[in-house]
Amino acid sequence: MKKYLLPLIWTLILLALGGCSPLRIDPTGAGPTDDAADVTKSAPAERGGMGADNGAQAADVGAAGVGDPLFPQSGNGGYDVQHYDLTLSWDDASGAIEGVTVIAAVATQPLAQFNLDLSGLEIDDITVNDAPAEFSRNGSELTIRLADTDALATDEPFSIAVAYHGKPQPIEFALLDEIGWLDYRGGVVVVSEPDGAASWYPVNDHPSDKASYHFTVTVPKPYVVAANGDATAPVAQGDMLTYEFDAPAPMASYLVTISIGDFWIQEEPGPDGVLISNYFAEGLSSSLLGAFDKQAEMLAVFTQAFGPYPFDVAGAIVIDSPISFALETQTRVIYGPFMTGEVVVAHELAHQWFGDSVTPASWEDIWLNEGFATYGELLWTVHEDGEESGQQMVHQWYQARANEDRLGLAEPPGVVSPASMFNRVVYERGALTLHALRMTVGDDLFFQILQTYAHRFAYGNASTADFIAVSEEISGQQLDDLFNAWLYEDPLPDIPEAGLFRADFQ
Ligand code: TRP
Ligand code: ZN
Repeated sequence: MKKYLLPLIWTLILLALGGCSPLRIDPTGAGPTDDAADVTKSAPAERGGMGADNGAQAADVGAAGVGDPLFPQSGNGGYDVQHYDLTLSWDDASGAIEGVTVIAAVATQPLAQFNLDLSGLEIDDITVNDAPAEFSRNGSELTIRLADTDALATDEPFSIAVAYHGKPQPIEFALLDEIGWLDYRGGVVVVSEPDGAASWYPVNDHPSDKASYHFTVTVPKPYVVAANGDATAPVAQGDMLTYEFDAPAPMASYLVTISIGDFWIQEEPGPDGVLISNYFAEGLSSSLLGAFDKQAEMLAVFTQAFGPYPFDVAGAIVIDSPISFALETQTRVIYGPFMTGEVVVAHELAHQWFGDSVTPASWEDIWLNEGFATYGELLWTVHEDGEESGQQMVHQWYQARANEDRLGLAEPPGVVSPASMFNRVVYERGALTLHALRMTVGDDLFFQILQTYAHRFAYGNASTADFIAVSEEISGQQLDDLFNAWLYEDPLPDIPEAGLFRADFQ
């Protein structure tokens, strides 16, 4: 583990950075200007609907789902989104939004018809390449039909503009009851994993179609908007403030957030030119925020272990709502006020490499997110508290799984359903899978594997097979048996290499 101790020079830099009081920025104090664009464009709601079956040839109809084993309806076929430009305004009294989403995409097959995912809300107008398009809706499937003369060829770039309005309704998901756009006393938060993004904008809602984003969000004064990526100073017009964020790195839709609330902003330079940028709800006790002072050090520790931090911004959005969750929204992580412990923050930062930069190709591969982020908890714990604390952590993970095993409740982390995909086994046996790999190949090769995987699939998608292939390539060993036993088979394997981290399980 010694190679993961910060070199002295880093420690000194971090002390210098962390020691001075971070800049506190009043986002609404940037000096109002009056040249805000009018973002509340509403098109006339004049529509020619279409029948569910419009006689299109299957050959030029995009599929209504990408065939995810857990969420077959999520996402759509026939095109690949490059960029989302989201413009919306929010009314605090009604909770309603009015928005225009402009999507830049490329057809991957001939297309006369394709789908987006959108749940609830009312559509005012849709154009494709600026020409009016017909649409119909069925649940969260939005079907768009092009005029014959407007049909798209394979590889043709095209744009979709959807004007819509209404009060977003969250989407039901077992883990939290509700995901997506959540209204709470004091503001709005968006936490969409796995399929909540369709609650607030039209989207190809599957992690396999990542895209860059730009946000233009108008809210009443004095609300503050926090989203992913680089912020620009808000622009005031009358009683309204318009906030812009640019997120140029490809992002999965479940990692997109905007959060509206009463935030103050704390920024400091982090390692390697990364900006640490936090949005904290006003009035939260500072004792809840202490772990965020360690983010610079965490980034340095994880950079040593995983390779360069993949984005130019890192930080937190801590909301003032009793909901207990944290979600690794890209660049700025959403935290409930009671989910701000150091280990949670380490977990969410580790997700920026594993989950956000390298995103699972399908939801079946969720252990690639949660197992890896949980392994980040271990690396941070060892860095902070020493190897013995790390051994305890592994011991606890193993003990909990072994107890389940004895009760016949063991589920391997590679076999999941929507109901079980965020069970502890995915996190902890997922992390133990990495630990077993480490014990098998040794520290040097293990971290070389993690770094190669993080680098090779950066900003894209990867599957479990991709990770196994990298592990075998780097180690030169046949590792199918190890991964099969840990990920896909029922009984909990022994941790290899008796002694280290093994304790006295039978
Ligand atoms: N990925 C989250 C984590 O860090 C857990 C999670 C899944 C979640 N879906 C969510 C959190 C929706 C908030 C909202 O472990
Ligand atoms: Zn996680």
